[in-house]
Amino acid sequence: MLNIVILAAGLGKRMQSNLPKVLHPIAGRSMLSHVLDSARALDAANVVIVVGHGADQVKTAYAQEKDLKFALQQPQLGTGHAVQQTVGLLQEDGRDDVTVVLYGDVPLVQPDTLRKLLLSRDGGLAVLTEFLPDPSGYGRIVRDAAGKVCAIVEHKDATEAQRSINEVNTGIIAAPTAALKGWLSRLDNNNAQGEYYLTDIIGMAVADGLVVNTAHPSAQFETLGVNSRAQQAELERLWQAELARRQLEAGVTIVDPARFDLRGQLECGRDVMIDVGCIFEGKVVLADGVRIGPHCVLRNVTLGAGTHVEAYSHLEQSSVGEQARIGPYARLRPGARLGNGTHVGNFVELKNTMLGEGSKANHLAYVGDADVGARVNIGAGTITCNYDGVNKFRTVIEDDAFIGSDTQLVAPVRVGRGATLGAGTTLTADAPADQLTISRTKQITITGWKRPVKKS
Ligand code: UD1
Ligand code: MG
Repeated sequence: MLNIVILAAGLGKRMQSNLPKVLHPIAGRSMLSHVLDSARALDAANVVIVVGHGADQVKTAYAQEKDLKFALQQPQLGTGHAVQQTVGLLQEDGRDDVTVVLYGDVPLVQPDTLRKLLLSRDGGLAVLTEFLPDPSGYGRIVRDAAGKVCAIVEHKDATEAQRSINEVNTGIIAAPTAALKGWLSRLDNNNAQGEYYLTDIIGMAVADGLVVNTAHPSAQFETLGVNSRAQQAELERLWQAELARRQLEAGVTIVDPARFDLRGQLECGRDVMIDVGCIFEGKVVLADGVRIGPHCVLRNVTLGAGTHVEAYSHLEQSSVGEQARIGPYARLRPGARLGNGTHVGNFVELKNTMLGEGSKANHLAYVGDADVGARVNIGAGTITCNYDGVNKFRTVIEDDAFIGSDTQLVAPVRVGRGATLGAGTTLTADAPADQLTISRTKQITITGWKRPVKKS
């Protein structure tokens, strides 16, 4: 049975934040959630999070996730002390009982690396280690003449000779659960930092005659920790580069991978092109041949094949059919559903609105709470007046209607099939099908009128 313990009690002082460190995001998702993703990918039977600083905030953030357990560590007396707090929550069923310890502030460890670690365990203990040109600050992996791991020595406790070892403890270990409980009960704090070191269990395991093996991460970002905003920003870029690399490998054109930001899930068909500076959030699905112009934001959006989104467009909780043209400077707000071949141009905002196949709103319009049929033309400056300050009302525009420029549709109101509204109309009652409806004061010319002149 696999237990996963995530250490997340630390203060994170250098973040200079009221938010507990593990709740800070990488790619739009809290660091702790990234770690939980990896834990769940391993099908852990039991996930225990050690909380301390900001414990209530962390627990509240995950209150809906019923598969998680929390252990409170107060005060924080070291990594070994942190794991001691979980002992009563660790489960065993006699079938390969193992406990993996992860850090909440080392967010990007990948499931494959953890699988490698578990495989290398060989019934004993496994430590995820790596080789660093500058190992200072880390616990060093001490090996005997035969190359077997015999201990981990913390930097502050290490001799000069040990400090020259460049194989370091990443902090991630896998241990047999029953033995781990025994070792934890024997930890002491007789060391340079006066802390209960989890790393002391390595020496105990060796003394008990267990094998201690090592595994290594596939990528360096997997074991990078975040202690400061600067490290958070660095890790964000490394992770974005990785996410961009995965899209490129799958055949997506990303014009500049260094200017790509994915904060969610992005599914792309073939020959999708993404220009610079775009941000993708939530779940975004782009079908074959979609092109996204520079500096667009797409949040929970689905776009059909061949649709192009031009520069500086902002799309949220919307869906667009095939071969549509959106932007530049378009805004689709939640509930915008656009059919095939639709055109939405600059400074057009659609909200909770259905725009039928082939319909167009090319310039400067607000269309909210509306059902617009097929082949409708919405002129520049058209506004649905959908809100009286309390209630929202719907506007219905049937197929083939033509809405003249600068029209206000005071909802609830209906424009019949094939109707035309004259420019400048304020529509307060339904417009019948196939007729011209117009509300406009008659144009007059006052002959001989003089402009006022300033007195000198
Ligand atoms: C630890 C390891 C060291 C390793 C390094 C890798 C020990 C004794 N040392 O050192 O071998 O090279 O990580 O980064 O394990 N935490 C708690 N409660 C505590 C103390 C820490 O939850 O009482 C959490 C922290 O929030 C953090 C993690 O444990 O997520 C590691 O703590 P940290 O203080 O960074 O350990 P290091 O001294 O860096
Ligand atoms: Mg550390």
